[in-house]
Amino acid sequence: MKAPFISFEGGEGGGKSTQIQLLAKYLREKGQDVCITREPGGTPGAEELRNLLLNGSPDRWDAWTELMLNSASRRDHMIRKVVPMCKKGTWVVSDRYVDSSRVYQGLVGGVPLVDVDHLQFSMLKLPKPDLTVLLDLSVEQGMERVKKRHIQVENVGQKKEDRYEKKGLYFHERVRDAFLQLSALEPERFIVVRADQSVEDVAVQICAEVNRRWSL
Ligand SMILES: Nc1ncnc2c1ncn2[C@@H]1O[C@H](COP(=O)(O)OP(=O)(O)OP(=O)(O)O)[C@@H](O)[C@H]1O
Ligand SMILES: [Mg+2]
Repeated sequence: MKAPFISFEGGEGGGKSTQIQLLAKYLREKGQDVCITREPGGTPGAEELRNLLLNGSPDRWDAWTELMLNSASRRDHMIRKVVPMCKKGTWVVSDRYVDSSRVYQGLVGGVPLVDVDHLQFSMLKLPKPDLTVLLDLSVEQGMERVKKRHIQVENVGQKKEDRYEKKGLYFHERVRDAFLQLSALEPERFIVVRADQSVEDVAVQICAEVNRRWSL
């Protein structure tokens, strides 16, 4: 039995982490086993690569190097965690996956999309997710939410901004457009949800779509 693999994508502050928890709760209530994971990271080796990718100055890596680091991390995550979990019947819900590289290093970073796809799909044999939830939010609202969250966690001593959050407004606008562009190319795989709605309203739409596809 192979359980579904679902990815969540979108710019910062769109609500990925929030909605993944709610979808997992919904699935568990329906009696399903669920594994929540994230990229870059998700396995010990990939988490080490995550540190290289998220810490430091915004221009620490050029787009190609960043793509290779992400892809190495993703391949490890895929073969050691995602595939074995799905094979044993556990749903896997990942916070970011292949489309993040297609956007950040590809459409926005400047590596031709055809090369990003060739590396990920032809060379590394990374499977496409069964469903990709794109949480679409204006850049202003996304940044506002991220700022608020930083204030909330300041007291527990977590780091403030990662490399991507330090990039400018124009960068984030391009990220938003690129995700929408990818979703339009594969309307079957993507569901685009307006993330400016309440947490509950967004969750209801995601769960309804999952239920429509897999009749839980
Ligand atoms: N629908 C919503 N309405 C208002 N606030 C929200 C909503 N969804 C999430 N938030 C809040 O916005 C902040 C960012 O949400 P969350 O961490 O889930 O986003 P994210 O997409 O995972 O962000 P990142 O890409 O930075 O990890 C959190 O403080 C969260 O509580
Ligand atoms: Mg998050």
